[in-house]
Amino acid sequence: MDQSTWTSVDEYFAERFIGADEDLDAALAASAEAGLPAIQVSPSQGKLLMLLARSIGARRVLELGTLGGYSTIWMARALPPGGRLVTIECDARHAAVASANIARAGLAGVVELRTGRAADVLAGMKAQRCEPFDLVFIDADKASMAEYFAWAVEHTRSGGVIIADNVVREGAVLDDASRDASVRGVRSFCEMAGADRRVNVTAVQTVGVKGYDGFALALVL
Ligand code: SAH
Ligand code: DHB
Ligand code: MG
Repeated sequence: MDQSTWTSVDEYFAERFIGADEDLDAALAASAEAGLPAIQVSPSQGKLLMLLARSIGARRVLELGTLGGYSTIWMARALPPGGRLVTIECDARHAAVASANIARAGLAGVVELRTGRAADVLAGMKAQRCEPFDLVFIDADKASMAEYFAWAVEHTRSGGVIIADNVVREGAVLDDASRDASVRGVRSFCEMAGADRRVNVTAVQTVGVKGYDGFALALVL
């Protein structure tokens, strides 16, 4: 089994379960055209996020790390009328591309894109006593994953879900001596989430068009 098999199988499912999608395809094209890194969730992962949001009846979603808004569009589509998605991006160039992609998808009225470092924006939201979220997707810098998780647990309703992307990174998570800030961040997230009795957590390894990686999912009790 190798990358070409993982890619072909991912494409097999995506052709049948997703197909062409004008706004998502345009978002990917515009992101590539603008030179953004192609590190967005895969189509199948994006659809999983959308289905999870629907499964829990999410009305308020928070995303850390917007990039070009690909995962944003997937999750925003899950929301009922009156629903809201807040997404945070520190790179103004990424945010500009995302803003256009979100508008093209007809979701400008649903999505609130905040430009700034996630830690700063989150501190502000906490100070403003923001309403709790139903779903939090943690997908910004991996070095801060534990801090983002700590914030998310305190701002997610009981029965809500926190998802953290990229917790495997081709097995790098195993390296307890790593000096890579991303690996250390993922590992401290795992320690923290595993010891937190307010949540029930699992992690799933994945292969597909994005290679070998995985995500963690925490149910807030
Ligand atoms: N969720 C997107 C992919 C996000 S890639 C998708 O799946 O479509 C990670 C993004 O996080 C990048 O755009 C990067 O600029 C942003 N980022 C990195 N560090 C950040 C920080 N400290 N605060 C906010 N955004 C950050
Ligand atoms: C990277 C970030 C991501 O969120 C992802 O899904 C894949 C790669 C990265 O920073 O390299
Ligand atoms: Mg990611």
